[in-house]
Amino acid sequence: MNGDDTRELLREIDAYVEDLFAPADEILEAALRDSRRAGLPEINVSPNEGRLLQLLVEIAGARSILEIGTLGGYSAIHFARALPDGGALISLEIDEHHARVARNNIERAGLSDIVEIRVGDAHELLAALAEDDEGPFDLIFIDADKESYPEYLDWSLRLSQPGSLILGDNAIREGSVIDPDNSSSQAMRECNERLAKDSRLSGIVLPLIRERIDGLAIARVV
Ligand code: SAH
Ligand code: DHB
Ligand code: MG
Repeated sequence: MNGDDTRELLREIDAYVEDLFAPADEILEAALRDSRRAGLPEINVSPNEGRLLQLLVEIAGARSILEIGTLGGYSAIHFARALPDGGALISLEIDEHHARVARNNIERAGLSDIVEIRVGDAHELLAALAEDDEGPFDLIFIDADKESYPEYLDWSLRLSQPGSLILGDNAIREGSVIDPDNSSSQAMRECNERLAKDSRLSGIVLPLIRERIDGLAIARVV
């Protein structure tokens, strides 16, 4: 099979899984539609990855979630829906326009009481969270600026506890992480290596089929 055929087969497999496990959902589709109309980049998690995130919340029994990078709230809606009664999600977003769109999408989903969006640079917001002794969080999802992933991993270790899950989106970046000369993936490569080697973490990088091939890093705090 040549490369194009393989890619087409991967796309069909992704669609097959999506049909089975991530059926059409008006609220999620409206969130994507309004995000597109508002000019947000279409870099949300895929429906199947969203489903995987929900399953991880359920398996971990997570009640408190911290998300770094809200965009239009597509992944946040998935997380919030998977939380049990009394659960809460804090999501950090640097762009006020993104945050506004996300708040509308989350309001329409009926999840405003569960989701709190904090606007600002995640570096500062994470420092403030730690300073104020917020957390520990049961699950942390890193999905903002890729060059800051190693720092976000440090904050995640600080804001979690044994048993917490730390997840990192975009761990494969179309395979660019396997090229040691690719400087744009240097931080992601470093992050993946730390997940593999840090004795405080037990993890894996799971390759995923999306528009492009990417992956999700999954680590449990030991
Ligand atoms: N989790 C979202 C996608 C997030 S895209 C989903 O799957 O639906 C990445 C987001 O991170 C963008 O909205 C971007 O504005 C935000 N971001 C980038 N750098 C940031 C920073 N330093 N602090 C906080 N948010 C940041
Ligand atoms: C892209 C995808 C993402 O999930 C993200 O967080 C940032 C960028 C991309 O495909 O370019
Ligand atoms: Mg992402």
